[in-house]
Amino acid sequence: MTQELSTTTPPQLARQTRNWWHDAVIYQVYVRSFADGDGDGIGDLRGARDRLPHLAALGVDAVWLTPFYASPQADGGYDVADYRAVDPLFGDLSDADGLVREAHRLGMRVIVDIVPNHTSDQHAWFRAALAGGPERAYYHFRPGKGTNGELPPNDWESVFGGPAWTRVPVPDGNGRTSQPEAGGEWYLHLFAPEQPDLNWDHPAVHEEFASVLRFWLDLGVDGFRVDVAHGMVKADGLPDIGLREQAKMIGAQVLPFFDQDGVHEIHRTWRRLLDSYDGERIGVAEAWAPTPERLALYVRPDELHQAFNFQFLRCPWDPDRMREVIDASLAATASVGAPTTWVLSNHDVVRHPTRYGDGPTGLRRARAASLLMLALPGSAYVYQGEELGLPDVTDLPDEVRQDPSFFRAEGQDGFRDGCRVPIPWTREGSSYGFGSGGSWLPQPGEWSGLSVEAQTGVPGSTLELYRAALAVRREHPGLGAGDSVTWLEAPAGVLALAREGFVCTTNTTGTAVELPVPGSVLLSSAAPEFTGGTVRLPADSSTWWAI
Ligand code: GLC
Ligand code: MG
Repeated sequence: MTQELSTTTPPQLARQTRNWWHDAVIYQVYVRSFADGDGDGIGDLRGARDRLPHLAALGVDAVWLTPFYASPQADGGYDVADYRAVDPLFGDLSDADGLVREAHRLGMRVIVDIVPNHTSDQHAWFRAALAGGPERAYYHFRPGKGTNGELPPNDWESVFGGPAWTRVPVPDGNGRTSQPEAGGEWYLHLFAPEQPDLNWDHPAVHEEFASVLRFWLDLGVDGFRVDVAHGMVKADGLPDIGLREQAKMIGAQVLPFFDQDGVHEIHRTWRRLLDSYDGERIGVAEAWAPTPERLALYVRPDELHQAFNFQFLRCPWDPDRMREVIDASLAATASVGAPTTWVLSNHDVVRHPTRYGDGPTGLRRARAASLLMLALPGSAYVYQGEELGLPDVTDLPDEVRQDPSFFRAEGQDGFRDGCRVPIPWTREGSSYGFGSGGSWLPQPGEWSGLSVEAQTGVPGSTLELYRAALAVRREHPGLGAGDSVTWLEAPAGVLALAREGFVCTTNTTGTAVELPVPGSVLLSSAAPEFTGGTVRLPADSSTWWAI
């Protein structure tokens, strides 16, 4: 049985896209796993620069680079020791400058990460703080509870597991410290102990970050991905939560350390700073907020430009849930006049082919989900290797793992290394073209066949699907524009949405579904079969139609 595919509401006229970031496709480069230029097994800025032509050919509008700043690498560089220096592991400032210029020459913008919630414990400020300097006030130091201060100041847990507090020795006033048992204070770290949280009540912290933002804006970057944008402000008095397993509450409720209303004032200040530069420099929030409405607060007209929509990323492969999340997300961002920002994978989550079911089913669904995402109004992020259909690597031996969450969570939660395995460029050779000196995490043998080389020019490959999708998006600026979609009637399990002159159908079921031909095929994640006036959409597939 097929139903008639008809419009339930008149198609919206797509709003003219005025700003580049409203509908930009932005490619995430996780620097240490993208391309290794110097053969030390770790990706770097020169390696990334040499591979920019791949991104230009893919057709992305911008590149987001994860932290490459001076860092002891306790958390893949999200523990920054010097915000104005490039870590020698990744190159030097002239390499950063060269990469930005080359990307611009190829027509792509560059966004860099800024990590304002915490520094590294090796940052000059924290070292001075430990030695008893006035910099102590830039962090959250508190006396412990219990008779001798032997208990943490409150019950907050680290996102990576264990208490969010670490006790330090009493400074002796001469830049040296006594033994820990001499009863010092505790400092707050919502992530690893090597990542002490900054105290954003202190004006010096504001001034320093404004200066760091200017440093990179002056170098020519087009914006910032703001790490833990929901975390900088803590509830007054640092109150207890009273519940354990707090990591599970992140993104599900407001916590005394996450999504506090006070963070918005910081984003307002940053927006003014960004706007004082020419060239539409942007801020994108990594904010885990409990509802689309609370997430939308981060992208009010005087705050950041984009905020990753993790509700969509977290949504299971279920047509009703997906439709609900899409509608709720679009409505929430439209209410503040901002675009929605779609993302399916990044360096912190299990890659979406594996999330959707692993094996061939997972990959089919992932390809279908990507076409669905790229058909929605707003901006979309593509995580390196997603365009190759890479699965998560789920069988990494414990001894190669580096994710601090793996060690702190006693092994239950070591998932982030699996999405960070260096990507394959060639069929053969050391680390499949990642670099001449192997790769810091082992790559599965099957990745030879998933390499850029193996997929280039192969019809139906995931790489060619992404290239074609981004090319169609460029030719049809209506895709990505506007702020709502029109849902069409469709058989059970099929999502059919209309945009100006365009329809996207997604069959989420495990069997082919027949329906009247909606238009002429622009692109599909699996070829539909035509018989007379009807078409059979293959299981777990999306098709784009011109109407
Ligand atoms: C963000 C980053 C993640 C990092 C954490 C602490 O969530 O994406 O990789 O571990 O912040 O900086
Ligand atoms: Mg290297």
